[in-house]
Amino acid sequence: MSKINIGLFGFGTVGQGVYEVLRRTKNAHAEIRRICVRNLAKPRATEVPDGLLTDRAEDIFGDPDINLIVELVDNADASFSIVSTALSRGIPVVSGSKAMIARHLPELIELQHRHDTALLYDASSCGSIPVIRNLEEYYDNDLLLEVKGILNGSSNYILSRVFDHGESYDDALRRAQQLGFAESDPSFDIEGYDALFKLIIITVHALGRFVPAEDVFTFGISHLQDADIRFAREKGVKIKLVAQVAKVADDRFTMFVMPELVEKSKYIYSVDDEYNGVVIRGECYDRQFMFGKGAGGLPTASSILSDIMARLHGYRYEYKKMAFSDRPSYTTDISLTVYVRYASTDIPSLLDFTGTTVRHFSPGANYIIGQVKLSELIAKRHVLGAKDVFIANIPTFFVEKDN
Ligand code: HSE
Repeated sequence: MSKINIGLFGFGTVGQGVYEVLRRTKNAHAEIRRICVRNLAKPRATEVPDGLLTDRAEDIFGDPDINLIVELVDNADASFSIVSTALSRGIPVVSGSKAMIARHLPELIELQHRHDTALLYDASSCGSIPVIRNLEEYYDNDLLLEVKGILNGSSNYILSRVFDHGESYDDALRRAQQLGFAESDPSFDIEGYDALFKLIIITVHALGRFVPAEDVFTFGISHLQDADIRFAREKGVKIKLVAQVAKVADDRFTMFVMPELVEKSKYIYSVDDEYNGVVIRGECYDRQFMFGKGAGGLPTASSILSDIMARLHGYRYEYKKMAFSDRPSYTTDISLTVYVRYASTDIPSLLDFTGTTVRHFSPGANYIIGQVKLSELIAKRHVLGAKDVFIANIPTFFVEKDN
């Protein structure tokens, strides 16, 4: 392919960012030929030449000159319909739609194989950080032990503003929305689902395993209260929303998304605002850390541009790890040490701790620090869903293979 002619679906924050990045870089190898939007009349910050916008998908699918589709639509069903149609017609796609990809990845892999075409989606996980292609290509061996980090810019922005700047939670959320970091439904950000979708995609490229969203324990930051912030400050730690996938034995791995009490010595302690940070841990090399902007139009667009240019060289994911015979299996049979703060919900009798280290009682904000199985947290999701309950992981290492 000597020139990429792009049909772009979606012209929101990231779509406009891609348009701007291509315009700024005066890229001679890639050009946006058509942009399909749902509502032509919607006011947009970016002006485009007459005739570039259309509301008819067929203007893109039916144009024989268009040889790449960039899909940045903010609706998982519409996005799946566009991507599966393109792949079925043999047209390669670059997408940033993490919710859609996390839900349909096995099917999307099958479509790529069946129609001998490619779907690239580095922008779906951690904005500008090239985490997917690195996991796919560089970490293509069995040394990988853990991928862990801050994968959602909006919730990290909120926590930073609340924790370090004393702003109110609601003000910080509003600002994250104004700055274009948050999803159109910000509950995806603050309830941990956006981080979960990214973790599911990362796990496919890290360990060759696809785990459906409903099987993974996910707890966000919406129940955070002043008592938790006070507790963290007293202990000299920060509260961060952390997603992680980790091997717990040679043949087993676990994964979950939940707030974590992060000590100063950890790399992710200093990851603030809308930045993301990913720690990759493995045998022989200990830890590596990737840091960068995880949300926002231009940072995410830079990752889309990288995938567009990768197509110039015919790059595609091979999903090699999915074919390994010794892939580890997913388990929730692991013990975690957690901080659970509660008021009226009777946590001590409803949650089965295997051990407790601290029991603290004070009006309106009791807490327990203790050991609990991940499977128990999943089974008691309804209990933990009560508004007066907040839970945070207190990390311990899983497999100490790196000396
Ligand atoms: N809402 C997402 C975030 C955007 O805040 O990280 C980038 O995926």
